[in-house]
Order: sequence, then structure tokens, then C-alpha cells
Amino acid sequence: MRAAIYERYGPPEVVVIREVPTPIPGAGDVLIRIRATTVSTGDWRVRSLELPKGFGPFARLALGITRPRQPILGTELSGVIEAVGDGVQAFSVGDEVFAFADAKMGSHAEFRSIPANGLVARKPANLSFEQAAALSFGGMTMLSFFRRGSLASGERVLVNGASGCVGSAAIQLARHFGAEVTAVCGPANVALVREVGAHHVIDYTQDDFAANGETYDLIVDTVGNANYSRVKRSLSKGGRLLAVLAELTDMLLSPLVAMTGGHRVIAGPAISRVEDLHRLAEIASAGAFTPVVDQVYRFEQIVDAHRRVETGRKRGSVVVTIGG
Ligand SMILES: NC(=O)c1ccc[n+]([C@@H]2O[C@H](COP(=O)([O-])OP(=O)(O)OC[C@H]3O[C@@H](n4cnc5c(N)ncnc54)[C@H](OP(=O)(O)O)[C@@H]3O)[C@@H](O)[C@H]2O)c1
Repeated sequence: MRAAIYERYGPPEVVVIREVPTPIPGAGDVLIRIRATTVSTGDWRVRSLELPKGFGPFARLALGITRPRQPILGTELSGVIEAVGDGVQAFSVGDEVFAFADAKMGSHAEFRSIPANGLVARKPANLSFEQAAALSFGGMTMLSFFRRGSLASGERVLVNGASGCVGSAAIQLARHFGAEVTAVCGPANVALVREVGAHHVIDYTQDDFAANGETYDLIVDTVGNANYSRVKRSLSKGGRLLAVLAELTDMLLSPLVAMTGGHRVIAGPAISRVEDLHRLAEIASAGAFTPVVDQVYRFEQIVDAHRRVETGRKRGSVVVTIGG
């Protein structure tokens, strides 16, 4: 099969398309013929080793000291079941699915084998393959953070970085859970964040949400410029900062400092649960979460897709179609 591989850390150009062996599904696995995938900020960080401050020294230990241990990037996908391993009951050949490979990656390829009882679910019929491929990275991240932050109906949620992949998922899921949502974005994205459900919008070039006197029960920071010391006065009593993007010191120290202020800071990697993927499929099927697609690239253009992600300006997800 063809796969986009990288054999050294670096710029988008380290990614090349090569022939590699097609995976063979083992007992309990399904083999998916991939129709669409995304280049996510996760792929960009792992390829370039551009990590939030403080995480650099650990990255090569986790990913491969001299070269990447997993040469195929790609955290999420949609596609069609090509083959099933022994004992698989839940899926049949021809089923349309989406899946989250998460940190195991390997989705920038024509095929991916994955345990049938893992992070794979039926594709919502109302979504295209391009949209379904973009469900998991933002959706799974925000289901995890909202659970850890105990989001409740009626709460006031502010989303910083609202036009990105994680931010646009945060708006839609918070709204689905009954929250009143304020989105913080640049002027070019005001219409987009309103379209996906924000009740209020703050243009960060005009107003500083951390200094305007408003308070929120939850603040979601996907930009990394809203640490606890900056936003503590914007948190209501018992408020929670969901630091989706945080530097190492903020991740380690802010939770302790926040406790003395009666707040909580939730940081660190999102935790992926199989039940969350099925929940995401249900929410999307009900029309309450439609991933925002920035641009669609063909597999042969995957280096351009990486370049687009690296701008930091994408709206929602950058999708790559394969075959089909
Ligand atoms: N903790 C975890 O497990 C976890 C999971 C997933 C992702 N992450 C991290 O979360 C971060 C966000 O990921 P993502 O995929 O959502 O990023 P993304 O899609 O690349 O975000 C791009 C968006 O951010 C907006 N933006 C840039 N600067 C801004 C600012 N100062 N204020 C408000 N919006 C701003 C941009 O809009 P403008 O062009 O208008 O500025 C753009 O639409 C990444 O750093 C990623 O590594 C962490």
C-alpha cells in the first residue's frame, strides 16, 4: 500500500509517499481502507518536534531518539472495512467507519488495521468521509476535558482559540451539553464561530477577555496564552481552566496555585475512551457536532496539507483524501 512516511524530524518536506507492506488484520482486528484522514496539530508537533515549552527533552524518548519510531503519521481516519480478523462480530466488510488512532498514529496510508473493540465506530450517515475523518482529534479531546472539568448544563464556557480544530469542537460540544458559549477568535473567523453555535463572540484584536470583567465557569484554552495567572479573575467561584495547550511549568504548578484560589486547572493529554468515540458518533448523527473542514487535499498533496497546518491559521481541520 502507499503511505506517507517520515524518517527524520523536520519541516513538511520530510514527508514522502512510499510503498510499504499492507497490514494484515489479526484476530479481533478490522482492516480499514482509508478514504480520508487529517493532518492535525498533533501530526505537526510530532513531525517537527515543536512542542509546548518544557516538553522537548521528553519528546525523543517517547517518539524515537534518533528517528521516529512510528514513520506513518495520522491520528484519525474514515473509511470502509476491507477485511475482518477472526472473532470480529461488530463489523462486516463494507461497513463505513471512522476511527481514532490517537498517539499510535499510522492513518496517513491506504490501509490501517485496528482492534474492532477499540477506537472505531460506524460513520454517521449524515457526514461525508471528509467530515467524519475530522471528528476525533477535536471531539475526543474536548469530551475528555469537559468530563475532567465536570461541565454542567447552564454553565458559562469561554473558548479561546475558537476557530481551530479543538476550539470549534469545544463550541459545538459545550452547546450540546447546555452551556452558554463565548468564543474568542480573530476578526476573520467571527462568522464561522457564530455559525457553529457560539452565543457570544470576542474578537481578540479588539478586546481582552481576561481584562473585561466578565466571568466564566469554564475557560478552554487551545492557544496557550491563557495561563492561570492571566485568567484567574475571569473564573467564577469554583471555575475551571481547561488548559488544552499548556507549558510544562503551567501544567505542573497552576493546579496547585489554583486550589488556593478555589479554582481547578485541568491540563495534560486528553484521555481517549472507546465510549467517547461512540458518544461522538451519536452526537454527530443527531446533527449537534459537524466538524469544520478548512481545506481538502489529495493524498499526493500531503506536504501542502502539512504546510497549511504549520501556519497556525487553519479553521477546523485540514483533511486529506485517499483513493475513493
Ligand atoms: N492536551 C491535549 O491532549 C491536546 C489535544 C489536542 C490538541 N492539543 C493542542 O491544542 C492546540 C490547538 O489545537 P488545534 O488543532 O485546535 O489548533 P489549530 O486548529 O491549528 O488552531 C488554529 C486556530 O487558532 C486560532 N488562533 C491563533 N491565535 C489565536 C489567539 N491569540 N486567540 C484566539 N485564536 C487564535 C487561529 O485563528 P486566527 O487565524 O483568527 O488567529 C486558528 O483558527 C495545539 O497546540 C495542540 O497541540 C492538545
